[in-house]
Amino acid sequence: MSESKIETAKLTFQGKEIELPVHVGSECEVGIDITQLRSKTGAITSDSGYGNTGSCSSAITFIDGEKGILRYRGYPIEELAEKSTFTEVAYLLIYGNLPKKEELKKFNYELRHHSLLHEDMKKFFEGYPPTAHPMGMLSSMVSSLSAFYPEVGKNVDLELNMIRLIAKLNTIAAFSYKKSIGQPYIYPRNVLSYAADFLHMMFAVPSEEYEVPKVMEDALDLLLILHADHEQNCSTSTVRMVGSSEANLFASISAGICALWGPLHGGANQQVITMLETIKNDGGNYKKYVDMAKDKESKFKLMGFGHRVYKNFDPRAKILKASADKVLVQLGMNDPLLEIAKNLEEAALKDSFFVERKLYPNVDFYSGIIYRAMGIPTNMFTVMFALGRLPGWIAQWKEMKETPGARIYRPRQIYIGETKRSYVPIDNRK
Ligand code: SDX
Repeated sequence: MSESKIETAKLTFQGKEIELPVHVGSECEVGIDITQLRSKTGAITSDSGYGNTGSCSSAITFIDGEKGILRYRGYPIEELAEKSTFTEVAYLLIYGNLPKKEELKKFNYELRHHSLLHEDMKKFFEGYPPTAHPMGMLSSMVSSLSAFYPEVGKNVDLELNMIRLIAKLNTIAAFSYKKSIGQPYIYPRNVLSYAADFLHMMFAVPSEEYEVPKVMEDALDLLLILHADHEQNCSTSTVRMVGSSEANLFASISAGICALWGPLHGGANQQVITMLETIKNDGGNYKKYVDMAKDKESKFKLMGFGHRVYKNFDPRAKILKASADKVLVQLGMNDPLLEIAKNLEEAALKDSFFVERKLYPNVDFYSGIIYRAMGIPTNMFTVMFALGRLPGWIAQWKEMKETPGARIYRPRQIYIGETKRSYVPIDNRK
């Protein structure tokens, strides 16, 4: 469904009144079109963090932050989480509709048969020290794919390169883990599902057979679905921004991986576990940390809490909280961090500081508990986020490329520096 222009907005500025068109989306979101603002008033807008700025129109993901709604191509996340699979969701995001049986079968076949890396790429891993963070390896490996598939720069075989990217990121992620622990790489196996293949490449060793527990395969598939897209978040906007200069797909995704790495974004899941472990080592005194988060001087934030868009619960956090309980029971594990997380959530949601600021657990708050239960190390958590988010990044990049009249992203600024002054020779400087 496309947006429709229903009315205009009037702006009075310096004694002049101008009319600005208004766009209304299929879910009745309203955007005032300021494309003509500067030419009509000489002024630009100012919106730090772009909290009120729509960078594009998109048909991929809809979020209603007040109602805790998240839908991929119109399908509620709760239904996809319960009934779909990650590769089916990837197809949905990229192509716009749920695949028919044959379409999904072909998509899965292609993904399975493009999961190998060029053997020369293994040399790149060898150059990293064991302490290298996997996110750094991930972004450079993805950018390096353009060296092996140079046609991507000419947008040739774009669909094939999208498939290659999804297929190979699984292998790159697992290889980066094996590299960090000094174990031999385990190659992809085409008989396994996407999630099972990743876990097999992560945890198998050449000396013995390793069968991926179904509970772990299902939990990972769910985590990947929940992370698959989230409208114009920081990393997705980065992918669109870089792609808008006509940089190739691999370069654009590599930039998105770097943006996701930040602790305020995808890096938060790693920070949540660090925070929960700190609380555990501090006698489990979670109330102390709730109080610290309220004290600006402490600079401490409750990681995994708060969201730019969700001013009610993050539907993904609700699903993950339930999944964390189930996975731990099925794996026969008891993780004290889960109890601390639940106590922290309960304490914060009763506290006016969090309630007034509408701070609720986000997707990162419980995801790390499940990754830990699977044996995935903390420094791989953001890599897991990137694996899930990849189809969303690809879908958004493709949509941006296909948008008629798409322009290079180039925001303006308000200059607040020195006004004009003349050069002073160094001997005359005071
Ligand atoms: C993701 O955009 C997306 O969709 C992202 C994501 C996705 O799927 O792509 O959902 C994934 O990135 C989830 C967010 C993960 N990050 C964290 O969990 C880090 C902790 N959260 C915060 O840093 C913060 O809540 C953000 C970054 C998530 C949102 O920041 P905003 O929208 O800029 O909000 P803000 O910093 O302006 O906060 C508003 C107020 C401030 O207090 P006041 O100045 O009004 O007194 O709330 C406070 C903040 O200090 N606040 C927190 C807090 N988060 C916000 N106080 C304590 N703990 C927190 N976690």
